[in-house]
Amino acid sequence: MNFGPRDWAGSPSYNDPGYRSTEFRGPKQPLIPLPQGIGEVTGPAYGREWVTSANADLTRNGRVNGEPLGERIVVTGRVLDEYGRPQRDTLVELWQANAAGRYVHKIDQHDAPLDPNFLGAGHCVTDGEGRYRFLTIKPGAYSWKNHFNAWRPNHIHFSLFGAGFASRLVTQMYFPGDPLLALDPIYQSVPANARERMISHFDINVTEPEFALGFVFDVVLRGRDETPFEDSK
Ligand SMILES: [Fe+2]
Repeated sequence: MNFGPRDWAGSPSYNDPGYRSTEFRGPKQPLIPLPQGIGEVTGPAYGREWVTSANADLTRNGRVNGEPLGERIVVTGRVLDEYGRPQRDTLVELWQANAAGRYVHKIDQHDAPLDPNFLGAGHCVTDGEGRYRFLTIKPGAYSWKNHFNAWRPNHIHFSLFGAGFASRLVTQMYFPGDPLLALDPIYQSVPANARERMISHFDINVTEPEFALGFVFDVVLRGRDETPFEDSK
């Protein structure tokens, strides 16, 4: 098995003046290409034994004394390789803010309440059709210090491991119709032709009656239709 080339045309630049922190972590020297070797194909990979279905339900995996607050949503989709083939047994991990726009993380200083019943992290593996499914709470927008009055759109962070370490992809999923997308330097750092690949779509057929709205987000790990990497090449 070989991995095809990445589509750099759909990826953000390492150093983006509008996204200030890239100035401190983006490389200043030209990159040195590393040809694919046997190590990229054969190892190392994650272990699946610690992945449990309980962590696909973020409305339950952080409960302490009640239900988490906010709008319940189903997030589901398929993971595809560069040829459009469904990727089974792909590890899908996500992390997100709670409904108020606050992460369970010590460096998150956004002045919004934590939810004692919401952790904001989960994982699952894709089924035989490459499909994953999470139940969670819609994340709130939050302010950050990139520039005056900067707010991140509602988003969920994703990490995916395909057939090998070289196919790992980290990205962010957005929601349709969000007015903050036009103002967000992270979203805008992705070339215009590829940005919409990061936006989920609402689906009434995924929506569960009297329970949760449904959003669909398919991820392509490599190739021409590759889902843009977050903040990296
Ligand atoms: Fe975030």
